[in-house]
Amino acid sequence: MVSKLVYWTNESHADPNAPMFYMGIYHLFYQYNPKGAVWGNIVWAHSVSTDLINWKHLEPAISPSKPFDKYGCWSGSATVLPGKGPVILYTGVADENSTQVQCHAEPKNLSDPYLRKWVKPNSFNPFLVAQQGVNGSAFRDPTTAWWSKDGHWRILVGSRRKDRGVAYLYRSRDFLHWVKSKHPIHSSSRTGMWECPDFYPVSLNGKEGLDISETGNRVKHVLKNSLDRTRFDYYTLGKYIPDKDRYVPDNSSEDGWGGLRYDYGNFYASKSFFDPKKNRRIIWGWANESDSKEDDNTKGWAGIQAIPRSVWLDSRGKQLAQWPVEELNTLRGKQVKMTNQKLQKGDYIEVKGIISVAQADVEVSFSFSSLAKAEPFDPRWVNAQDLCAQKGSKHQGGLGPFGILTLASKKLEEFTPVFFRIFKAPNKHVVLMCSDASSSSLNVDGLYKPSFAGFVDVDLADKKLSLRSLIDHSVVESFGAGGRTCILSRVYPTLAVQNQAHLFVFNNGTEPITVENLNAWSMKSAKIK
Ligand code: FRU
Repeated sequence: MVSKLVYWTNESHADPNAPMFYMGIYHLFYQYNPKGAVWGNIVWAHSVSTDLINWKHLEPAISPSKPFDKYGCWSGSATVLPGKGPVILYTGVADENSTQVQCHAEPKNLSDPYLRKWVKPNSFNPFLVAQQGVNGSAFRDPTTAWWSKDGHWRILVGSRRKDRGVAYLYRSRDFLHWVKSKHPIHSSSRTGMWECPDFYPVSLNGKEGLDISETGNRVKHVLKNSLDRTRFDYYTLGKYIPDKDRYVPDNSSEDGWGGLRYDYGNFYASKSFFDPKKNRRIIWGWANESDSKEDDNTKGWAGIQAIPRSVWLDSRGKQLAQWPVEELNTLRGKQVKMTNQKLQKGDYIEVKGIISVAQADVEVSFSFSSLAKAEPFDPRWVNAQDLCAQKGSKHQGGLGPFGILTLASKKLEEFTPVFFRIFKAPNKHVVLMCSDASSSSLNVDGLYKPSFAGFVDVDLADKKLSLRSLIDHSVVESFGAGGRTCILSRVYPTLAVQNQAHLFVFNNGTEPITVENLNAWSMKSAKIK
């Protein structure tokens, strides 16, 4: 489909960097090793698009060339300065001890919409080095800057103090000289290094995105950090208090690991940007491989960028929701429908007629007539992934498991089920969503096959649940309940490949389930030049 922004062989992709829209063009940069399918030799690869789906690769935009970035050009962000154009702030690695400094790059030629060439002026580089008290080997990934009414730009830089994750705040009037604020904007104990912080406002009403500098009573703020300790992205929703340089998470957002996640699967080092063309905020995330290093060397590449997702504050205000950008629909080819299909306990029904099941977009809505058969929820089940590993799609239940089997071989030797299972707790129902890679491949050599899962905070009053899955060879990217819970899995089937892959709907619970509507599209390949 589109997620592999790959065309050279022997290369590796990692963090998305500095996504932006400028002069009618979307830019995506990413951490990139041009010399091998492993992490190392990091430069900023650069791709451009007019629709976020079809891409053209350009020469790397930023590569080690100065003493301050000799050992790597690590992650960073873009800010489009009104009347002046974009600036990239990134982390340079200055020595073999991994000393990290913050650097500034500008387009050489502002009238080139592709922004092919970038310069790193000596006069103000590096613009930040770790001052006393800041850990210089854990000081990286500057955010996009926001503008405040006091006449200052502000950015965050990720760090840690011993085991405490920290986002330092810096201010500048001229975008060249930056001063550290008295205290970090936020920090949290026992979370370790905060990589790739991202900080932005979301509107209290509706799905429209906001420019990063919006503040006031009609917004909440999101602080996302990528915790290198778990390799997951966590966020909180909260209040930004500009005159105090503080961010205070809402008490409904657990602050730390165990907190809210963009994605309960393989999705890391994400970065958002405001798209002024369509007034939306978009996030990109990186999904690394779950196969072995040897496999990556054989394939000649490693790491993909997920499909860009619109992100907004869910209508109940306690979490974000995400959805693939609408431009993805331009790749939809032949459509297949299933309506009003009853699924009794144990039913597996094939969805026939999709030309390319290994490259498909599937939207389904399920309904059931009663919640009575939901199994009791044990309050000790705090970890969704453990619960999914314990109660997989083959484990019969009351209300669920029901869902789809993606990338399934004909006789189900291989399949990646994406499904729901509903439990009854004392005062509410608990919905578990799983994307379980444990039966995804007969290959047993060095594959990581986790039972990824998250809980879905959804109102079941209408007794319906919806699911969308984007299936793309080695990727199953799923959006439960309108994007309230998202899970990206990497899987490597050996039989269920190309036109040998099948799609099923299934129910393995005693409560009958109805597939009200299923629409599946064969997806065309994106044009990647
Ligand atoms: C996150 C990260 C960043 C760093 C970059 C280096 O994956 O470790 O913190 O800037 O990757 O490639």
